[in-house]
Amino acid sequence: MNNPYNFDTHLNTYNKKPTIFTKGKGSWLFDEKGNGYLDFVSGIAVNSLGHCPDVIVDAIKDQAEQLLHISNLYWNKPQLELSQLLIQQSKHNKVFFCNSGTEAVEAALKLSRKYGKSISPEKTEIVYFKNSFHGRSIGALSVTGNDRYQEVASPLMPNTTIASVDDHEQIKQSITDKTCAVIIEPIQGEGGILTISNATLKLIQSCCKKQNALLIFDEIQCGIGRTGTFFAFETTEVTPDIICLAKGLGGGVPIGAVIANEMASVFVPGDHGSTFGGNPLVCAVASKVTEIISEPLFLNEVIKKGHSITEKLNILKEKHPILGTIKGRGLLIGIEINHDAMSKIVDGMYKEKVLLVTAGTNTIRVLPPLNVNDEDIKTFITKLEIVLSNLDLKN
Ligand SMILES: Cc1ncc(COP(=O)(O)O)c(C=O)c1O
Repeated sequence: MNNPYNFDTHLNTYNKKPTIFTKGKGSWLFDEKGNGYLDFVSGIAVNSLGHCPDVIVDAIKDQAEQLLHISNLYWNKPQLELSQLLIQQSKHNKVFFCNSGTEAVEAALKLSRKYGKSISPEKTEIVYFKNSFHGRSIGALSVTGNDRYQEVASPLMPNTTIASVDDHEQIKQSITDKTCAVIIEPIQGEGGILTISNATLKLIQSCCKKQNALLIFDEIQCGIGRTGTFFAFETTEVTPDIICLAKGLGGGVPIGAVIANEMASVFVPGDHGSTFGGNPLVCAVASKVTEIISEPLFLNEVIKKGHSITEKLNILKEKHPILGTIKGRGLLIGIEINHDAMSKIVDGMYKEKVLLVTAGTNTIRVLPPLNVNDEDIKTFITKLEIVLSNLDLKN
């Protein structure tokens, strides 16, 4: 089939594969010729219930017949219902809706700065961590611990401090009375599926408490059931003041959310906003996603499937020692591997019609939908074994 489209008309920001996908169902994507690809990228942790599940399609159809958009000048029911559901889960008491992860981070940063300034005009410093990823806007990039991404947009936002999660002394020194917030992913996704230890999270929380600074957890990738609990922080002994959500919350429609505690009342009308944020269509879908994923039985299955994949990968590792540590929790899984082999395996899997994405410099991410079935897990392992057996690192 000839491609009638001109790829060159798009800004050159992605190394996209040439395939044009036209359909999706469950863990599978289909190209124009009907070829099926097993999708273990899930739109980068977005398609939490797989592609086009009936429950989402029906929610979209139903809501589209009622009300699509009204702005935030008025209330709409799906938005109110979703905020109730999220608050029930987190036990916080304020919610703000936007359209993406980056926007959720921006809202959290602004909220923290306003909170800090309500205490002292100099309390505006934001502490962030190496290997973190919080988004591509200038604000979010300013707290993203990756030089490659920051360089493009520098000079960045002032009053930020970077620390290393492994250096507890540095963490203690970085969080001062001028700090308004610390932002961290409980499991760093883009950085390479790096789980932050409970001890580090507890230390950060105690420094924040001591200095009256807010603790922001970016759960945009690791939240919404991805790690087997609704929020990733549930398996830590730390509850953040602010949670940023996006990706899996919409199951395929664009939504971002900030959940916060009482301090969020520092915001007054005019301080922040979003035209589309929390519109009836996306909130109706996100409510359905939240209802399904928050079910304990569903979450147990995520843990079971996570164990199943990790176990199978560890068995494969014995036969193919090129595979390194299998990392992560639930269905946020990383396979550590050296850089050259990483790209060759991802490309090899693409040829075998299995989609995978890398993270950091040495990790292959495995991000199936949260309701992936055993047969698709088996197919993934079989194809990976084929690719590993044929791997030629010399060419
Ligand atoms: C942890 C984390 N924060 C923020 C973002 C940015 O989200 P978005 O691409 O929806 O703006 C991402 C995206 O990968 C992410 O993984």
